[in-house]
Amino acid sequence: MKNRKRIFATLLMLSAGPLAIAGTSTNTLGEKIARKGTGDVPACAICHGDHGEGNIKAGYPRLAGMNAEYLDQQMTLYAQDERKNRIMQEYAQKLSIAERRAVSDYYANQTAHSPHIDLKTLPPQAAKLLQVGAPNRGIPSCFSCHGDNGQGNKDGIAPIAGQSAIYFIHQMNAWRFNERPVTEGNPMAVIAKTLTLKEIALLAHALQ
Ligand code: HEC
Ligand code: HEC
Repeated sequence: MKNRKRIFATLLMLSAGPLAIAGTSTNTLGEKIARKGTGDVPACAICHGDHGEGNIKAGYPRLAGMNAEYLDQQMTLYAQDERKNRIMQEYAQKLSIAERRAVSDYYANQTAHSPHIDLKTLPPQAAKLLQVGAPNRGIPSCFSCHGDNGQGNKDGIAPIAGQSAIYFIHQMNAWRFNERPVTEGNPMAVIAKTLTLKEIALLAHALQ
């Protein structure tokens, strides 16, 4: 009996799989918020791009293909005024918990295009931080957590390749000035405070 239940559950998962990946058809609420907004909140696409690809020039981060839990967690932090950004705090507060979850799932299912970072073409200081870190100052290699090309990793650590330089610099400053909380086990505040301003600028441009 137990076995049969398990087989049935597996079949269900298999049949739900492709639909869940195609995403849009099974998540109409998330898609609606992303593309049309709600009565209170404008369409996310206005800033984050038609497919969540972000807007490099304006400094709006890409959301496509990011981990759903991460996106949802960040929306909650904005809603609770723990992560500071006037625009996003307002929107996150106006969305319900279910709406935030739906739109996070929607973006997680969008295809991401992470550019290839060619270390050979970068300033050596930036390439070294990405690949080796600065062990003498306790900074591990960025790629060791963010994926071997900065594309993010399967445990949900955010991508850093192809992200807007303006956004990158804002995040480093937010951690330096304690305006973005550090989730458990997250070394970013220490890293941001240890990097020099020059290194932050070099990395921002290397990764965009
Ligand atoms: C008017 C422009 C604008 C709109 C519309 C907008 N955002 Fe944002 N969003 C931003 C900016 C700017 C940031 C960066 C804020 C910061 O520095 O913390 C951001 C950051 C985020 C982040 C954090 C990303 C990360 O990598 O940590 C998430 C998640 C997010 N937005 C989701 C949404 C969702 C979902 C919607 C629609 C309900 C939306 N945004 C609508 C401008 C916008
Ligand atoms: C030990 C693992 C680890 C290392 C090493 C690391 N990071 Fe991170 N990083 C994280 C985690 C985890 C997050 C997600 C933050 C959160 O949950 O609030 C993050 C978030 C970020 C973000 C914000 C992404 C977004 O979408 O908002 C940037 C930018 C970033 N890291 C850059 C770097 C750079 C540059 C380096 C190298 C100097 C680096 N990280 C090294 C774990 C790491």
